[in-house]
Amino acid sequence: MARTLITGGLVVTASDELHVDVLVDGGKVVALATHGSHGWTADHVIDATGKYVIPGGVDAHTHMEMPFGGTTASDTFETGTRAAAWGGTTTVVDFAIQSKGGSLREGLDAWHEKAEGRCAIDYAFHMIMSDVDESSLKEMDRLVELGVTSFKLFTAYPGVFLSDDGQILRAMQRAGSNGGLVMTHAENGLAIDVLVEQALARGERGPRHHGEVRKALLEAEATHRVIKLSQVAGAPVYVVHVSAREAVAELARARDEGLPVFGETCPQYLFLSTDNLAEPGFEGAKYVCSTPLRPADHQEALWRGLRTNDLQVVSTDHCPFCFKGQKEMGLEDFSKIPNGLPGVENRMDLLHQAVVDGRIDRRRWIDIACATPARMFGLYPRKGTIAPGADADIVVYDPHAEQTLSAATHHMNVDYSAYEGRKVTGRAETVLSRGVPVIADRAYVGHAGHGTYLPRGLCQYTN
Ligand code: URP
Ligand code: ZN
Ligand code: ZN
Ligand code: ZN
Repeated sequence: MARTLITGGLVVTASDELHVDVLVDGGKVVALATHGSHGWTADHVIDATGKYVIPGGVDAHTHMEMPFGGTTASDTFETGTRAAAWGGTTTVVDFAIQSKGGSLREGLDAWHEKAEGRCAIDYAFHMIMSDVDESSLKEMDRLVELGVTSFKLFTAYPGVFLSDDGQILRAMQRAGSNGGLVMTHAENGLAIDVLVEQALARGERGPRHHGEVRKALLEAEATHRVIKLSQVAGAPVYVVHVSAREAVAELARARDEGLPVFGETCPQYLFLSTDNLAEPGFEGAKYVCSTPLRPADHQEALWRGLRTNDLQVVSTDHCPFCFKGQKEMGLEDFSKIPNGLPGVENRMDLLHQAVVDGRIDRRRWIDIACATPARMFGLYPRKGTIAPGADADIVVYDPHAEQTLSAATHHMNVDYSAYEGRKVTGRAETVLSRGVPVIADRAYVGHAGHGTYLPRGLCQYTN
């Protein structure tokens, strides 16, 4: 395997900013040394002068080809992981799904089938539990052994994914004993369904009503509830896609008590708002996801949470549906719009824009987008950092490149961009996955099947 030397760049990790060269051999980082201080030779030299050299992004929340609401998310593992690489992400953790009445193992096998031989970058799985009973609880232990060490449970979507409080408590107790991490989609789905029915009865059928019925208070209530259940179980909880300031407050309060309670937010909640849901005609459907976008004044609480570490991770919840034919399923009824936004290609750049704007610093950018998701989900230090022994998942990032995000230029298999026309500064120029170029000088040189499955260890993060 080729030896690669990356020279002249500023290596940024969650903990350091170092003017060093990086030597890659056998797919691993083998050494770092001050520019010009060594006599290293290599088969390939990448000149990163004036650029950042950062760990590949770790997106811990994606849904490639996920069946949802009578349709299927439009990115396959092939197209979605390729788009991720274009955006400087080199690992995705996707959600395998247990079917109702099926076993966890059957769900996991089905997701392996979809992904195997198709990914451009490395991938791992969480498990969505749709049917918590004696047998699936027992199976959790086996999944942990197989490297699927996190389990998503829902307080939302009655009749589809919703688990009741007793089921969530049992899953948390089991995770407490086998080292797994329970992730929760925290919204009060039963109350939301009442409000949906009442809104539709009043003739409120457009996309913006999706945001109105999925109230921030009902996210806060469910967040509070899962925190208390985790406290009773004596197990940690990770709340996914936090969007409401009231939910951040619940997490902050629990963390102030020292509880192992963690929170993730997503770019859509940091950069978009209910103003997008209210765009004229049916345009708002492009922004229908759950938890929903909030009024813009919630964003400051999310940014603050990222700075104070009350939120630890930014993932995308990438779950794209085309506007034509898919989002349009809800033309007459917002509750039939498939939930989810595209974003796997945009996350690293949008968060870099937050660095440019002074909202977070460079190391925090790498922390929330690479290092902490890797640590949280048992992939660190193989992924999420640049250090001897780590996989050479490395991005040469041009912090000065200007780009305009658009469906016309993105690589996600979806017919719109949630960030159409937005200007951002910064772009991944070259992306290595285990030392192998996937993107080289803004050209795709990877291939489906390069990406390998990553069995994960246990959560390595403590409050
Ligand atoms: O709207 C969303 N978030 N769709 C994906 C499924 C989920 O709940 O994460
Ligand atoms: Zn969810
Ligand atoms: Zn999701
Ligand atoms: Zn390969």
